[in-house]
Amino acid sequence: MAEHSTSYNPGTGVEKWLDERLPIIRFSKEHLMDFPTPKNLNYWWTFGAILTVMLAVQIVTGVVLAMHYAPNVALAFNSVEAIRRDVNGGRILQAVHSVGASMFFFAIYVHMFRGLYFGSYKAPREILWMLGCLIFLLLTATAFMGYVLPWGQMSFWGATVITNIFSAIPIVGDGIMQWLRGGFAVDNATLNRFFSLHYLLPFIIAAVVVLHTWALHVPGNNNPIGVEVKSSRDTVPFHPYYTMKDLYGVVLFLIPFAWFVFFAPDILGDASNYIMANSQVTPTHIVPEWYLRPFYAMLRAIDFNVLFIDSKLGGVIVMGGSLLVLFFLPWLDRSKVRSGTFRPMFKWFYWLFVLNFIGLTYLGAAPAEGIYVIIAKLCTLYYFLYFLVILPVLSRIETPRPLPASISESVLGAAH
Ligand code: HEM
Repeated sequence: MAEHSTSYNPGTGVEKWLDERLPIIRFSKEHLMDFPTPKNLNYWWTFGAILTVMLAVQIVTGVVLAMHYAPNVALAFNSVEAIRRDVNGGRILQAVHSVGASMFFFAIYVHMFRGLYFGSYKAPREILWMLGCLIFLLLTATAFMGYVLPWGQMSFWGATVITNIFSAIPIVGDGIMQWLRGGFAVDNATLNRFFSLHYLLPFIIAAVVVLHTWALHVPGNNNPIGVEVKSSRDTVPFHPYYTMKDLYGVVLFLIPFAWFVFFAPDILGDASNYIMANSQVTPTHIVPEWYLRPFYAMLRAIDFNVLFIDSKLGGVIVMGGSLLVLFFLPWLDRSKVRSGTFRPMFKWFYWLFVLNFIGLTYLGAAPAEGIYVIIAKLCTLYYFLYFLVILPVLSRIETPRPLPASISESVLGAAH
């Protein structure tokens, strides 16, 4: 990693005093403002900053919502209605938080698919990638539990279906399910613990984001050509160039976010969640929010038994495996070339993988019958083939295109 020396000189006596005791200004200057950053990062690299802003937005709106929300099965549904109708600014506050969850996931998927394309998970960034995977798992759990809180029909039935799948685990399954629910069925105890954990997890995510950023700052950023930084000519200090670029990316992102909040706050949600939870009436289709559908589709795709593994347990294994496999990616793709830009065969399989994932998102809400089940099976198969077979094989057989000698050469031409 190329070094730009820090320009920090404590200007006043107070700054000097602070610098000798808690060098927080020096730290920010070295690690944020002067941090040597590849000069060729494109707008896909603004999503890290966008995600940081989204995490803050969700925490701030969530804390204020919690001041008005009542985590009790008799009151929860009406308390959310009261927030939307009676609390000052409540309509916007609630919309920002619920639309914000969707926007957060949209950003995290872009961020992850960016990493997949540009090979950002490869050495020496394996830990950075794995911490990202951990954040994704925690975010999924947080979103799932948050969705239960309004105590609508889909909240209740979603919680019932998902906690129920744990009962597929042999011997201990029923125990785990009851432990998660706090009883035999989803009820007040479930709502209470989900509220407690939904409040707690974002702060744990924030702590893991700190580790994520730390693990980023040791090797430094990857970049669109995937060639490591070789000299200080390949980098610029993070501030002001990237602070401004990130800020611009954040503002662009906030435009569709605001559009949803002001013009279509409920469009991403399910209509049946505006009916209060009723354990006697099952909705026709139980579907999670769009961002969890790819994994739900894989869970449902397994409707057959394999030897002693019944379909329910098989679904759980496949869904868990689809998340777990991400952690091993740095060791599955052994190609020496990082960026997909220089990998002619990889590109085809990558874009097919993106389409496949979008297909799974669609299938997660389609009825689990007929042709949909067959396509879901094929898509699930491709999801696993991509990681477990295609990437390892491509690493061996593909001939990559020649790489530029350095980042500055790719930006400024061979003369530099
Ligand atoms: C709350 C969620 C997250 C936040 C706030 C966050 C934040 C960031 C930031 C600020 C960066 C540097 C800027 C950039 O490259 O965009 C970054 C880089 C990175 N993140 Fe995340 N991240 C999050 C989730 C994830 C997830 C879920 C993954 C993958 C599973 C991931 C993998 C990576 C990788 C591999 C890099 C290095 C990219 C490169 O330099 O090419 N992150 N993250």
